[in-house]
Amino acid sequence: MTSGGDSPGMNAAIRSVVRTCAYYKIECVGIYRGYQGMIEGDFTLLTARSVNNIINKGGTILKSARSDEFRTSEGRKKAHENLIKQHIDGLVVIGGDGSFTGGVIFNKEYSFPVIGIPGTIDNDIFGTSHTLGYDTALNTAVEAIDKIRDTASSHNRLFFVEVMGRDAGFIALNAGVGAGAEEILIPEENLGLDRLLESLIKSRKSGKLSSIVVVAEGDKSGKNVFELAKYVEDNMPEYDVRVSVLGHMQRGGSPSCFDRVLASRLGVKAVEILMDNKTNLMVGLKNNKVITTDLEEAITGGHSINSELLRVSDIMST
Ligand code: F6P
Repeated sequence: MTSGGDSPGMNAAIRSVVRTCAYYKIECVGIYRGYQGMIEGDFTLLTARSVNNIINKGGTILKSARSDEFRTSEGRKKAHENLIKQHIDGLVVIGGDGSFTGGVIFNKEYSFPVIGIPGTIDNDIFGTSHTLGYDTALNTAVEAIDKIRDTASSHNRLFFVEVMGRDAGFIALNAGVGAGAEEILIPEENLGLDRLLESLIKSRKSGKLSSIVVVAEGDKSGKNVFELAKYVEDNMPEYDVRVSVLGHMQRGGSPSCFDRVLASRLGVKAVEILMDNKTNLMVGLKNNKVITTDLEEAITGGHSINSELLRVSDIMST
């Protein structure tokens, strides 16, 4: 099943899990709408041919949901009964930290084998250098910011561009450096409003006529992107300021080759470790090797932002 916020590459991961099952002659059942579909018994038999022509598709053919009912023990009981009724004896959850949390609780309550495949554009999962969809989302964001740069430069404007990431600044930092942003605001580091203003004034004085500031959705400046823009406009009346919120477009689109290959590798490993009677693990990528991490650790292990990249960004805004 796929669960939580969808991400490009989820279909490629479904395909990989289904085809690996077919290869090993294991029956594979797809669950629609994540944990909610599990509670409602919304299942479908998946064969190798059910997943033709989906490797290149964004979204998820199994649909996704964030289920409040699964947070209750009654909901989980119904879900478990449905799995038993369907003779399902192992679960592959493709999703992010919320989905893994559900999997850990479910495994503790019912000793049901659960393996996680990290699928989220946020990249905020411990135990993998890349989550499915992150690479595609980065490229989508960079492409969008490039277009904004065209119009920003034509009108000598300052643009604030909000990218996704409620708790993590991976997209903001990497897309910001990749798109040549003047400043990057991320949840992991609050540089303060004075520093932002100082930097913009300095760059204006140095001859820059237009600039782009990338702001992660969850940045900790205490102001949302529109308030930030107003704050700067009030303090720098010489600048014509605009805001662009990229939003859910970052979650859609055809997955990059990197995400397709990653999905294919992780899907194979997920099925093979389930066959080995392993449980409560997440499959991930480290130094280009597929590894496993304890599912609970994948959620609680935390994520650290690359300080070297912050420094690079600083130097580039000279
Ligand atoms: O977790 C992925 C993500 O896209 C976050 O970056 C974003 O904050 C959130 O999901 C948005 O969730 P929803 O689609 O439920 O509004």
